[in-house]
Amino acid sequence: MFRTRLCVSVGGLRGLRLSSSSSASGFSSNQVRQTFLDFFQQKHRHRFVPSSPVRPRGDPSLLFVNAGMNQFKPIFLGTADPRSEMVNYRRVVNSQKCIRAGGKHNDLEDVGRDVYHHTFFEMLGNWSFGDYFKEETCAMAWSLLTEHYGISPDRLYVSYFGGDGESGLPADQETREIWLNIGVPADRVLPFGPRENFWEMGDTGPCGPCTEIHYDHIGGRNAALLVNSHSPDVVEIWNLVFMQYNREADHSLRPLPKLSVDTGMGLERLVTVLQGKRSNYDTDLFTPLLTAIQERSGCGGYRGRTGESDEGKVDMAYRVVADHIRTLSVCIADGVYPGMSGAELVLRRILRRAVRFCIEVLQAPQGALASLVPTVAHILGDAFPELHRDTDRIMDIINENEQQFLASLQRGRRLIENTLRTTESRQQLFPGAVAWSLHRNLGFPLDLVDLMVEERGTRVDHTEVECLRAQEEKRRSELQLSEMENQLRLDVHSLALLQSRAVPQTDDSPKYQYSLDAHNQYVFPSCQASIQALYSGQTLVSEVTRGQSCGVILDRTCFYSEQGGQSHDQGYFIRDGEQEVLHPVEMVSLAGGYVVHQVTAADTLRIGDSVLLHLDQGQRLACMVKHTATHLLSWALRGLLGPSTEQRGSHVTADRLRFDFSVKASLSISQLKQLDCFVQDVVTENQTVYVEEIPLDRASTIPGLRTIDEVYPDPVRVVSVGVPISELLDSRTDRQTSVELCCGTHLLRTGAIEDLVVVSERQRLKGVSRIVAVTGDQARQAREVGQALTQDVESLSARIKASISSCLPSAQQLAKEVGVLSDAVDNTPIPQWQRRELQSLLKALQRSSNTTIRKLETREAAVKAQSLLEKNGDKTLLVDSVDLDSLSVVMKTVNQISDRAPASLVMLLSHQQPSGKVLCACQVPKGFTALSANDWAVAVCSFLGGAAGGSMLVAKGTGSSSDITEALRWAEEYARNKTNS
Ligand code: ALA
Repeated sequence: MFRTRLCVSVGGLRGLRLSSSSSASGFSSNQVRQTFLDFFQQKHRHRFVPSSPVRPRGDPSLLFVNAGMNQFKPIFLGTADPRSEMVNYRRVVNSQKCIRAGGKHNDLEDVGRDVYHHTFFEMLGNWSFGDYFKEETCAMAWSLLTEHYGISPDRLYVSYFGGDGESGLPADQETREIWLNIGVPADRVLPFGPRENFWEMGDTGPCGPCTEIHYDHIGGRNAALLVNSHSPDVVEIWNLVFMQYNREADHSLRPLPKLSVDTGMGLERLVTVLQGKRSNYDTDLFTPLLTAIQERSGCGGYRGRTGESDEGKVDMAYRVVADHIRTLSVCIADGVYPGMSGAELVLRRILRRAVRFCIEVLQAPQGALASLVPTVAHILGDAFPELHRDTDRIMDIINENEQQFLASLQRGRRLIENTLRTTESRQQLFPGAVAWSLHRNLGFPLDLVDLMVEERGTRVDHTEVECLRAQEEKRRSELQLSEMENQLRLDVHSLALLQSRAVPQTDDSPKYQYSLDAHNQYVFPSCQASIQALYSGQTLVSEVTRGQSCGVILDRTCFYSEQGGQSHDQGYFIRDGEQEVLHPVEMVSLAGGYVVHQVTAADTLRIGDSVLLHLDQGQRLACMVKHTATHLLSWALRGLLGPSTEQRGSHVTADRLRFDFSVKASLSISQLKQLDCFVQDVVTENQTVYVEEIPLDRASTIPGLRTIDEVYPDPVRVVSVGVPISELLDSRTDRQTSVELCCGTHLLRTGAIEDLVVVSERQRLKGVSRIVAVTGDQARQAREVGQALTQDVESLSARIKASISSCLPSAQQLAKEVGVLSDAVDNTPIPQWQRRELQSLLKALQRSSNTTIRKLETREAAVKAQSLLEKNGDKTLLVDSVDLDSLSVVMKTVNQISDRAPASLVMLLSHQQPSGKVLCACQVPKGFTALSANDWAVAVCSFLGGAAGGSMLVAKGTGSSSDITEALRWAEEYARNKTNS
């Protein structure tokens, strides 16, 4: 958890005034951060909310958290769980870890070129959720900057929204007046258009006009013309956004039900101002890193040069490495690892860009990049303690990925060389498709591809690359759009309307009201409810007719909505008294306390209708089985791998459970066995599952409680296996068991799991493994199939051993069987430990049967060669037929004849095979120049309507003919002509 307590005190809120000409003194970056937090917490009664991890919580529109407001989006949208603490937030302050790389705010390519772009930065922010608005926001910001940080007002300029003719939005005159009243001179209060002064967090979502505060590094002048002109002398430091609208999917703007404030100030820039520097890299957030880079690389020191003057891009490399190592450390600590898609892919590119600059430009040794992690932890660890905690893990992951990249660099180089060889002239551009594939599939940063291609004297076809990039982005956004269209989600307006119409939030507690009957069968009572609201598309309607797809909100429901990694329930409802008309429920989702049942109406439905809900009980029970089994697996994994093993994702459906967790390497066979056994033991004991709702702060005192990064409601549900919650809360007892905060539906006793088998385990990313497991009958079946495959492998192994000296066709048949069985073992659901065992047995069998085949082939070739030599005497041109049905044996026979008659040209053609093919192989004496083996084989096989290939010395191929006598004659004549000419 984030602690606000930093090591250095700044003397409360004592202002520290800077002289107008100069630089500041005395403010370390830790003090700058703390002063901000103290100002809003102590002076203006804001609640401190820790930074969320950089992986967005359940927000598919974002790759990374890119602004302080991301974690508060549910408040802006009105979708926050009504029982969570978040709904009570009014005034909030924090310093948020942000990543801007990939997605809408993408600074990756700029990083290093200048001295102020970053992929990771901290955003200091204060928020009002329906509390204060424009006037207080501006006044607080001005007071903090000028009185507490001591920035001279004559260095500051403010901008406001000057209106937008296109969308018809008026200028924000109110904000202009506010600044004038605060005392900012009129010629420093500047209007700008939507590009500068209208803030949107993504393609859709909350947005509004903003007012920005800019700082002039030079001073003593009027620099109004330089505001927003990309001058490095006048920079924006604080953005105050007035959230008034929501950007809809059709791009229109609709007013938000509640006015809010969202501000963001980059810590790095502010520290630069307060430490009197001109570059973020010259502040104490970066200088220890630059020094460490110099120590590792042995390069000359960092000199802060940019552009042309930065010869060899050495200073750029310093900046790239310093920036990227911060990003890598923060992301990995938050569970985003370099990988192959989405945020993981972006991180992989960042890592590769850093490795390249580190090794190629700074000439640092392998491992240097990871060795910078402790320095990052030293700089940021007080604010983000996870960096201290996870230092070793972060270093391991960086090192492993670096190694992998260096290996793929080799492959990339070869691909570029091969492409250039086939590109007709050096004048021609390097194909964009190859550059894009290096980038997309091998993870090469595009600027690396540029560099590697330029080093070889040509340029990448950027037009083609851009075209491919656009195509991919279009594909991706179409996919996202169609996913969104398929789901009815309540937006901010619908929720506000429901609230204004006093539609009560759905009571979904009946989803937990199930029991075990006397025969140990689960009973899920049906639930009586009445329709409160109906949606067609995003519109509230009073009735829907037959065949219409709609969203139904009821006063109560027993359906579980998709959440906490558990699939939603399925089932149907009927209207009271209409037994025969079933309305199937296709999807169940939750927003702002309302449960929406997505239904295709089987008949007219009206608000006020009374309905009876029926769950698909089999599906629900299967989800409960898998969910409780997931808790047991998670507990077993922590027992097996240590308490620091973290959950990295989980999904439970009726068919299977999937669980991602942090671990260095794949599990061993014995660990996999232990996992299955552990869960089976708890299942056999038929332990009781205890569930209780208790206050969040009490729950957090339970020893060994497993939580994940989520906003939990208060009170919160605690799920424990085998030990009553009251015992867990009693500090005198020390009972360890599986205990989690969880809103899922669970079994009442573990026995219903019946059996569990892990059927797959693999490293999804470096450092993250994914387990897939099945339960009950599926598990039993997996065991049985596993047994059957084991027997098959054993019997095949015995047959292979027995046939060591038998004939070639039967050895080849056995090798084929090894292949078929390997395929079955790889792809059938069986216990994963057994799969690994069988795979290694089969690999050994494959090796031994290959050896047998090679031996038998050599033996057969020797026999044939002997008889052919006897038949042909010592001819210097030996062209003959041979009775064989394997091309490799024909080739071996040719080799053996050539060994014993080294001055001869030898070609053999097989008889026609059952497939209609004729096999051909040839060899010419070493140093023989009149005829190459390749040309000879190609000529003969073309004559036979086929193809061949090889070298000067040996070649082979196939053709087809029902009468090879003619082909033999032709082959001999061809060779004779060539050698005589
Ligand atoms: N959310 C606003 C920004 O990121 C404050 O600039």
